[in-house]
Amino acid sequence: MSLSESQLALIELARQARERAHAPYSGFKVGAAVECQDGTVFVGCNVENSSYGLSLCAERIAIFKAVSEGRRDLLRIAVIADAYAPVRPCGACRQVISDILGVDAEVIMANLAGLTDTKNIQDLLPLPFDRSFL
Ligand code: THU
Repeated sequence: MSLSESQLALIELARQARERAHAPYSGFKVGAAVECQDGTVFVGCNVENSSYGLSLCAERIAIFKAVSEGRRDLLRIAVIADAYAPVRPCGACRQVISDILGVDAEVIMANLAGLTDTKNIQDLLPLPFDRSFL
C-alpha cells in the first residue's frame, strides 16, 4: 500500500536525522522521527558508546526527547536505516513505543532504497508489559 504525504514526510525527517548518527562501532546508522498529535516532530539517531551497552537506539532518543520536552501525545514513529528491508525496531524500542505512544501507535519502517512497511505496534509487540501490572 502506498504511503500518504505525511508518512513520507516523517520518513524524510528520520532519514535526515540518520545522517547525524554516531555509530563508529557498528557502522549501522539509524534515524527516527516521532510525531505528536499537533504535527510536532522530534527526531533521533542512534548514539553509540565505547562501553557498548550504553549505546542508545534512534527511536528511544526521539521518544525521550519528546517526553523530556513535556509531550505525551505521541502518535506515530518512523524509523530508517540502510538495510536490505525496512528496518524493524529492536525489542527494547518496541516496549518503549507501546508504553509511551500506546497500543494504537503506528510504526513506519523504511530503508534507504525506498522500501517501506507500516504496522501497528500491537503487531510488533503483542501482549506487552504495561502499567496495568504495576
Ligand atoms: N539500532 C537502532 O538505533 N534502532 C533499532 O531499532 C535497531 C538498532 C542501533 C543500535 C546500534 O547503535 C546499531 O543500531 C546496531 O545495532
